[in-house]
Amino acid sequence: MKILVSGATGYIGSHTVAELINAGFKVVAVDNLTNSSLESLKRVEKLFKCKIPFYRLDIRNKSALKKVFDKHSIEAVIHFAGLKSVNESILKPVEYYNNNLGGTFSLIEVMKEFNCKIFLFSSSASVYGNPQSIPIKENVPLSGSNPYSRSKIMIEQYLQDVFNTSDNYCLGILRYFNPIGAHKSGLIGEDPNDIPNNLIPFVSQVAIGKIKKLYIFGGDYETPDGTGIRDYIHVVDLAIGHIKALQVIMKKPQVLIANLGTGKGHSVLDVVKAFEKTSGRKIPFTIVDRRQGDIAISYADCNHANKVLNWKAKYKLDEMCEDAWRWQTLNPKGYN
Ligand code: NAD
Ligand code: UFG
Repeated sequence: MKILVSGATGYIGSHTVAELINAGFKVVAVDNLTNSSLESLKRVEKLFKCKIPFYRLDIRNKSALKKVFDKHSIEAVIHFAGLKSVNESILKPVEYYNNNLGGTFSLIEVMKEFNCKIFLFSSSASVYGNPQSIPIKENVPLSGSNPYSRSKIMIEQYLQDVFNTSDNYCLGILRYFNPIGAHKSGLIGEDPNDIPNNLIPFVSQVAIGKIKKLYIFGGDYETPDGTGIRDYIHVVDLAIGHIKALQVIMKKPQVLIANLGTGKGHSVLDVVKAFEKTSGRKIPFTIVDRRQGDIAISYADCNHANKVLNWKAKYKLDEMCEDAWRWQTLNPKGYN
């Protein structure tokens, strides 16, 4: 079965391409390389001794996309391509809405033209805003607090409208919690441009000495140690969740919505301790003011995903840190 993966050279895309190949799927990769490097795909090719067709294109360019659909018999699409920084989305809302919504519209319109009916979408736990109850279930009301999360909510609604009214469509909406870690091989991992926004890439750059210290955003949350709690999930578990979801949705027309997390929360200080243990390095830190827009606690109720996907995240925090550290030490300059 041939799957088109948008955003295939990005962090989650490249790990999912690896798991797709591992599971015997054929992959056609597209990306405009605005936030990634083609080297990630070359590493996956090296890992599996295979060739993956790649097209450098912006998915908003429908005629370029059509050429790819013309050339390959695409049976399903996994859609990762998008802009993902919450902070940047507040500064550049026009770009975020245009890219995230426009890219999805274009993909869906081309899929319709080519009668391709299976679609998996990367949504985010940020669609829950500041949740009223923890752990977070899929059926609570959604509430975006920034252009990024609102773009995800709008896309979810658009997709459900499109897929509910058309015959025989299979849609999966996967809401990721906090993906971290890297492939066991140390060949692929997260390679942020500039100074990282997210906790784990920042901590690993402190551990390796690229950045002097970590700033912990808030030590006065109502949590046991005062720092924010999140549901960190290994990126390989997340990637395998996509394979399971694809296998479920392609069986019959449906709209499936599932949280992909571990169901366990860890504080920032838990992460710092786990990373120090793994790396054998000290992580100096200072506790500073809360970051605007952050919430105290977010972790998933994974019962629905466990049941419908027959899937459960298997890696624990220590192993996620170990794999992130292996990637960091083997690739101190990322893919360059
Ligand atoms: P990433 O930036 O590493 O990957 C996204 C890829 O999409 C990049 O390679 C980028 O070059 C490409 N891209 C962006 N716009 C494009 C366009 N118009 N046409 C073609 N390619 C385009 O991000 P990631 O962490 O791999 O995230 C993948 C998806 O998962 C995103 O949609 C993101 O919003 C979502 N997500 C990520 C997280 C996270 O913490 N990483 C959490 C929840 C949801
Ligand atoms: N944090 C720090 N210092 C840092 C970076 C982060 O203390 O330098 C803290 C944050 O305050 C938060 C926790 O570490 O408590 C995790 O922060 P991240 O930035 O790693 O992740 P977020 O939970 O803020 O958001 C991430 C993605 C979003 C996505 C969300 C849910 O960045 O795009 O997970 O999937 F929507």
